[in-house]
Amino acid sequence: MQFMEASAVWCPVDKARRNMSESGSEKMIEMQDVWKTYPNGTHALQGISVKIDRNEFVYVVGPSGAGKSTFMKLIYREETPTKGQISVGGFNIGKLKPRKIPYVRRNIGVVFQDFRLLPKMTAYENVAFAMEVIEAPKKVIKKRVNEVLDLVGLRSKAGREPSQLSGGEQQRIAIARAIVNNPSVIIADEPTGNLDPETSWGIMQLLDEINFRGTTIVMATHNRDIVNKMRKRVLAIENGAIVRDQLRGDYGYEF
Ligand SMILES: Nc1ncnc2c1ncn2[C@@H]1O[C@H](COP(=O)(O)OP(=O)(O)O)[C@@H](O)[C@H]1O
Ligand SMILES: [Mg+2]
Repeated sequence: MQFMEASAVWCPVDKARRNMSESGSEKMIEMQDVWKTYPNGTHALQGISVKIDRNEFVYVVGPSGAGKSTFMKLIYREETPTKGQISVGGFNIGKLKPRKIPYVRRNIGVVFQDFRLLPKMTAYENVAFAMEVIEAPKKVIKKRVNEVLDLVGLRSKAGREPSQLSGGEQQRIAIARAIVNNPSVIIADEPTGNLDPETSWGIMQLLDEINFRGTTIVMATHNRDIVNKMRKRVLAIENGAIVRDQLRGDYGYEF
């Protein structure tokens, strides 16, 4: 995960958030006519323009291959746009100076369908590692890791390795890791894709709670029930373009 490579950017949460909001704007994410063509010639995104405000919760829906993951990768700067402008937290991330990249990455937590925990580390160590790479002080790490393990309800299983946890528990640890540095934004790419319906609901409620506490969340999903029950903003992407942007929206596809 690229954002984990950030080094030596630890600073108290308030200051980190100030770094992210230099523009003082309510917008958290803005894309203007963004195109992404992969080196093999695939046009994954074709003219995306969208604004997402601070504290919004947005579902990204659409068929496989529509461009959802590419849309999210541009936000956490795993990929850069071929054309167009992207700003996240007031940073123009298409043209970011290399020394500024860690500040942006530190402020974006990412959650994947396949959890991506480090297998030889305990749950505690997986979460702590995200703070160690930004060189947070040891005392701060211990307090904060225990805090987020409490929030995701897994402090009692802190000593287990991923293989000793259920899928839902592994995803909770991955979410704890994503939020431990207090990011302004969480990007979740099909976070319930490998989980049964009941476990998926638990993960959804956890993300909703994190959003309620002030973190902007963008979540790609194929989970119709969740989208239809939660009634949040829905962006539908097809063939690399936004075909629907609906407040309190629904899933909307028949398949
Ligand atoms: N690294 C890549 N190189 C080339 N083509 C890619 C790459 N990643 C994705 N694609 C292609 O871009 C399109 C959009 O993919 P993706 O963003 O993963 O869609 P989704 O997440 O909606 O399934 C697809 O046609 C996919 O095959
Ligand atoms: Mg995808």
